[in-house]
Amino acid sequence: MDKKIIVAIDGYSSSGKSTMAKALARLTGYIYVDSGAMYRAVTLYGLRKGAVSAERGVDEAALTALLPEIDIQFRKDEAGNQRTLLNGEDVEHEIRDLEISNLVSPVAALHPVREYLVGLQKGYGRERGIIMDGRDIGTVVFPDAEMKVFVEATAEVRAHRRLREMLEEGNEATYEEVLHNILERDRIDTTRKESPLRKAPEAITFYNNEIPLEEQMMVLHKIFDERVAQANAKDNG
Ligand code: DC
Repeated sequence: MDKKIIVAIDGYSSSGKSTMAKALARLTGYIYVDSGAMYRAVTLYGLRKGAVSAERGVDEAALTALLPEIDIQFRKDEAGNQRTLLNGEDVEHEIRDLEISNLVSPVAALHPVREYLVGLQKGYGRERGIIMDGRDIGTVVFPDAEMKVFVEATAEVRAHRRLREMLEEGNEATYEEVLHNILERDRIDTTRKESPLRKAPEAITFYNNEIPLEEQMMVLHKIFDERVAQANAKDNG
């Protein structure tokens, strides 16, 4: 039997990393975890409880006190799409709203939030056989991941992709709003003190300026097979 590995896919927001991660999970039968959805779910909970607001920003002490109440799970719907559950409630649609996108980066910059979610994420990977996407998966969550991918794309390509997804999901926004949000999140995600977005030295860089998904998958699946073979060889040698 093949050894199970961990695949870490990191990159800028809306670089297409979750589409790639989901497709690879489907091909390999691995579990897929969207770590960004977890930061979004914490932001939504904080917003509902008054610890996060557009006017006053984030109340770190209040949000930290709420963390133990937050349970995040994932489930698949009938169409096979992953849904995020916040304390049992399906919040998949709500966490993609621009309001959450605008508030999530300062929440994700807080040490207690990261510590809490990284702990949950490490737990999901205990059995390996997992594909996780995010910002710090190859650097902090799974530094020992056998396969690390870093996805890049221009801000304009990412804004078009995000806008298309939002409109498909029934969330309203303009191209300018989405581009502004992406540039602002890039700035916060790369300059924050806590686990800033950066490429792990051994990660493969993937430039994803609208490459068809089938082509991406051919490349990624081949690398995946190589990494599994290496893990098997290491186990047997
Ligand atoms: O991938 P996304 O856009 O859904 O992520 C939402 C936010 O969460 C993003 O601004 C950065 C943050 N994030 C993070 O800090 N670390 C992760 N592993 C995943 C997301």
